[in-house]
Amino acid sequence: MKRRSVLLGAAALLAPPVIHLAWRRQGADERQRLQTALARRFVRPLRRPGDDGWMTPLAAAGVRVLRALPAALALRGDKPAPLWAYQAESGGRRVFNPILIGRPGDMLRLRFENRLPQDSIVHWHGFANDSRNDGGGMHAAAPGGAFDYQWEIRGDAGLNWYHPHPHLHAGEQLWRGMTGLFLVEDHASDALARALGTRFGVTDLPLVLQDRSVLRSGALASTADAAALAHGRTGAEVLVNLTRYPVLSLPRRWVRLRILNASNARVYRLACVQGGRRLECALLGVDGGLLAAPRALSELYLAPAQRVDLALDLRQAAAGEAWLKTLAFDPLHAEQRQAPAPPDAGDPHALHRPPAAPAAAAAAPAGHVHGRRGEGVEEPLLRILVRPHDGDGGRLPARIAVPSPPPACSARRAFTLDAGGGGRWRINGCSGQLAPAFRLASGAREIWDIRNDASGMPHPMHLHGFAFNVLARHNSPAQVRQLALDASGRTAQDLGRPDTVLVWPGETLSAAVDFAMPFAGVQQYMFHCHNLEHQDGGMMLPFEVGTP
Ligand code: C2O
Ligand code: CU
Ligand code: CU
Repeated sequence: MKRRSVLLGAAALLAPPVIHLAWRRQGADERQRLQTALARRFVRPLRRPGDDGWMTPLAAAGVRVLRALPAALALRGDKPAPLWAYQAESGGRRVFNPILIGRPGDMLRLRFENRLPQDSIVHWHGFANDSRNDGGGMHAAAPGGAFDYQWEIRGDAGLNWYHPHPHLHAGEQLWRGMTGLFLVEDHASDALARALGTRFGVTDLPLVLQDRSVLRSGALASTADAAALAHGRTGAEVLVNLTRYPVLSLPRRWVRLRILNASNARVYRLACVQGGRRLECALLGVDGGLLAAPRALSELYLAPAQRVDLALDLRQAAAGEAWLKTLAFDPLHAEQRQAPAPPDAGDPHALHRPPAAPAAAAAAPAGHVHGRRGEGVEEPLLRILVRPHDGDGGRLPARIAVPSPPPACSARRAFTLDAGGGGRWRINGCSGQLAPAFRLASGAREIWDIRNDASGMPHPMHLHGFAFNVLARHNSPAQVRQLALDASGRTAQDLGRPDTVLVWPGETLSAAVDFAMPFAGVQQYMFHCHNLEHQDGGMMLPFEVGTP
């Protein structure tokens, strides 16, 4: 009888939300059993850079061809899942979704070849480029076509990435597997790596988080229904480096985790825990830049397209098991708590509001709202086996980089994010606008006040070509306010130079932006939501920088 209930406990682990519910209800014994069952489940070695030819590190300047094409990779058991991926050739080898590595001043000269049945184009997310090389969707390559890039890596060390950006299909192509990291290293990051004594791929690991639903057949579920398109595609489980239920062994010393949220729509609240105790991390960098100095933190929100560079001192952990988790939080889908309105079946981008009474919807447990499986539910992401270590443990330097100070701004510009009457997410009342909304002179310095309507959902807002210097957050929800460093309302992540900022319902974020650029003439950029279904649905605003 006892044995049977253990087996049932393990069977209950099939769906992550069930883990969560069971966890809360059980006593210490039962908790121990669930812990054991989890340990039995998280047994697939985390994919490291280059394993089976995926995520192979390549010098960016040496890549001549980057192809988009159908590929296959086993995600569940050994059944191959059909995916779409990037492929590069290097030394006669073909590698998928390579990790590109470059230094400021390197030139990229590569041909993008599109072997997909849809238009596609590569956006170099986090880089400062002219609009032709930005890959923002104005110059897509047709199926069978190609596009030649030629651009120089500018700026400082940071954790950037590349992904598809064709008009209307960015979300689908990312969902099917097209994502690559793009690391920029410089003298400051060299010194940081020397101090920590970490080795890339061994004690310095990229972690790409993507939620997907993997069917029994091994294939990915497409989840392209109207609700998914309104709220964003989400999956029932979280893959790390395209590994399902991963485990990673790490020595008891400083380790570095470079984390990208490459999910279409899901937000994570990340923390490292061991036996109910939080392991503190040091934040080293945010998006495309390193911080001036490390900042201690024990949790952070990571929205789609955001990156964090973390140092984790595993000497504070005991040898044995630790977890990278996403903790419980309120996903704040306030739009679902409004009076019900019938979804517009004819419009795939129409907002879907489930026909629930507002009170019932508000009382629903976080993460169990319709259309957003798992978001806000506590869930393990990566099992870490901490092993003893006798060698040099490395050290955390007191200073990392010298980021430029926030620009002194002379103008303010206001943006309001809301849902229009037609049921589309909008920026300043616009949805799907293709004509530039405004033009700035190169070198203009502005404060952008981004206000998210209280009856909406969180929007990760991305700026092409430039970075934000976050000055303040006003009216943040309590779960964000508790992470504020001071009266400005800013969190540790806001101290970096993010290119993507998460703005919660009811919140206003103010950020200074320096629009200086080295390109002649008028360039086109865009400001959009990086919930890619929102972007594809029109939540973007093109603008221009320069003088004709
Ligand atoms: Cu990462 Cu316009 O996108
Ligand atoms: Cu939603
Ligand atoms: Cu959005």
